[in-house]
Amino acid sequence: MTGFKDLFDLSGRAAVITGGCGILGRRFAEGLAEFGARIALLDLDEQATQAAASEVSSRHNGVAKGYACDITQPEAVRRVADLIEADLGPVDVLVNNAGITRDAMFHRMTKDQWNAVINTNLNSLFNMTRPVWEGMRNRKFGRVICISSINGQKGQMGQANYSAAKAGDIGFVKALAQEGARVGVTVNAITPGYIGTEMVRKIDPAILEKSILPLIPIGRLGEPEEIARCVVFLASDDAGLMTGSTLTANGGQYFA
Ligand code: CAA
Repeated sequence: MTGFKDLFDLSGRAAVITGGCGILGRRFAEGLAEFGARIALLDLDEQATQAAASEVSSRHNGVAKGYACDITQPEAVRRVADLIEADLGPVDVLVNNAGITRDAMFHRMTKDQWNAVINTNLNSLFNMTRPVWEGMRNRKFGRVICISSINGQKGQMGQANYSAAKAGDIGFVKALAQEGARVGVTVNAITPGYIGTEMVRKIDPAILEKSILPLIPIGRLGEPEEIARCVVFLASDDAGLMTGSTLTANGGQYFA
């Protein structure tokens, strides 16, 4: 077989990653940078965002820049998208990764907990994808990758807000993939299971040990790098056949 050598050649591509300060965002950046992409990392806090970008840049020839931005604010996102395109060139790859939890049993969940999760995890997809979508369509190339979750597929007690948002991500992907297909833009979801991130480490250790780990057939949390490999694959030119898909990476916990 031929054609594997350049499978993940991302040189010349500009990639935007939201939630850029978290361990997933940083690993995605490193994975994409390793194959030649220029990276824009977005997150809320200016200092932390610059620090994350410097860390990636120090290992990959200065390819990453940091942009502080609240992705729940459409006008701010549009401004930062313009800035990124001025700095790095047209955006070829967008990884909608930013996400938060405000877990609570529904009988105790507040409207603020609901809104915070829906705004950050779902409404941000509109805010972030809309400004780069027309450019991708016009250039007839684009890769939009949305980080959903196993809990958007199977539902999770204590996460009515998060499960609703993450299921919404999958609906967004399936609809937009149909629009992008004819113009060379793919749109896919990745549904990680429980990964060793700050978000999962925040869960009460007793709950993690008793109620979550025993449900994962491979017997461990996933590694951020394992999800980064999925991102690199979906971002590559040669993943053009994959669109509207949900790439499941959960250690066998749930078969969607
Ligand atoms: N899976 C299975 N059972 C769970 C569970 C889970 N994820 N979370 C809670 N439970 C069980 C508890 O073990 C407990 O069982 P017992 O009554 O038998 O002891 C029962 O549900 C009630 O839980 P609590 O007593 O903890 O209820 P609480 O009101 O004090 O707290 C909660 C509720 C804040 C939701 C807390 O249970 C919790 O943090 N649960 C974890 C929820 C979770 O899985 N979040 C995922 C975060 S990581 C993420 O979201 C990333 C991703 O994409 C996968």
